[in-house]
Amino acid sequence: MSDIIDRKIESKINSELSKKQRKKTLDDGFKKNKVINEVLDKTTVLILYDLIKSKIISYVNGVVKSGKESVLFWAVSPEESNLALKVYLTSTSNFKNRSKYLIGDPRFSRIKKGTKNLVYLWAKKEFQNISKCYDCGINVVKPIHISKNVLVMEFVGDNGKPEKNLLESDISENDYKQSLQLVDDLYHKANLVHGDFSEYNIFKTPDGLKLFDLGSAVDLEHPKANEFLKRDINNISNFFVKRGLTVENPIDVFQRIVK
Ligand SMILES: Nc1ncnc2c1ncn2[C@@H]1O[C@H](COP(=O)(O)OP(=O)(O)O)[C@@H](O)[C@H]1O
Ligand SMILES: [Mg+2]
Repeated sequence: MSDIIDRKIESKINSELSKKQRKKTLDDGFKKNKVINEVLDKTTVLILYDLIKSKIISYVNGVVKSGKESVLFWAVSPEESNLALKVYLTSTSNFKNRSKYLIGDPRFSRIKKGTKNLVYLWAKKEFQNISKCYDCGINVVKPIHISKNVLVMEFVGDNGKPEKNLLESDISENDYKQSLQLVDDLYHKANLVHGDFSEYNIFKTPDGLKLFDLGSAVDLEHPKANEFLKRDINNISNFFVKRGLTVENPIDVFQRIVK
């Protein structure tokens, strides 16, 4: 019975897609044969449908944020908890720049060619990085599920509005300490370097700082792990300096973490 419904839905999606693709340009102006809009190519639509079928989500409320490489959706689970779906765009070529965070990481030694595969691998890498940190008890967003380019996690915030990041928050000395603790925990507990550690990728919640956006994180074995670590420490130190705090010399922080 459910097979018949599945087939009907797939055929409906197919017919909607081919209707749109018959037109020269789509309603939203995107090129023929590419995607329905910037996000929802057919595979992604089918993934969302699968997530509903397998009761990981019950429905999608809408777009929260739209970036160059990913779009964030607010979804709701069958238990009524709020979820965030990070949908990586497969129609983007920006991912070429990301290979430096994959090549050299022993976990991703075999990389299939093609942008789509690279995007799937990137999403999987982000999910693995978050899961590893979460399992080590580090304050990161709770991972729920990964399917190709769709990453499902807890929604941090209220009513579809994301929690403020550090940049948008009033900060204190304690936030600086917690930030460095996050870098340290990542290194020593999860054996990872974030690679994009900044005021943009840390939520300030009532229960303390919470880290996210871990797609760039690399294993300590990665040949550039130390370079990325230095940059992470510099970035976050600069942010706190700009906010008027006196910070420890970033080189000393680096030495203390790696020793
Ligand atoms: N789990 C989440 N819950 C709520 N909002 C989120 C979540 N993850 C990301 N966001 C929001 O989406 C934005 C983009 O997410 P991010 O993972 O940083 O993607 P990007 O790679 O585009 O920087 C964040 O700045 C944040 O506001
Ligand atoms: Mg980010």
